[in-house]
Amino acid sequence: MREANPMTSGITVRVDPDKCQGHARCSALAPELFELDEFGYARQALNSCVPSELIDKAYMARANCPEEAIVIEPGSRADL
Ligand code: F3S
Repeated sequence: MREANPMTSGITVRVDPDKCQGHARCSALAPELFELDEFGYARQALNSCVPSELIDKAYMARANCPEEAIVIEPGSRADL
């Protein structure tokens, strides 16, 4: 996991592992936010809030996931 920019948006992104089917659109559109595991399934790349400059990419990735596996929520990833 990478450390986030301190200028954060107050939102987090995560991937629902029960829904992800490995389409990889998220990592193609927002490689700063999503990475693929050894089986091609996505997981969030940050352990904290989305940097402000990546908000649009987070929403674009969610809109382009055919499985609706990307979840955007308020809050921090301090629990990770
Ligand atoms: Fe999975 Fe959707 Fe990304 S299916 S690999 S979260 S585009």
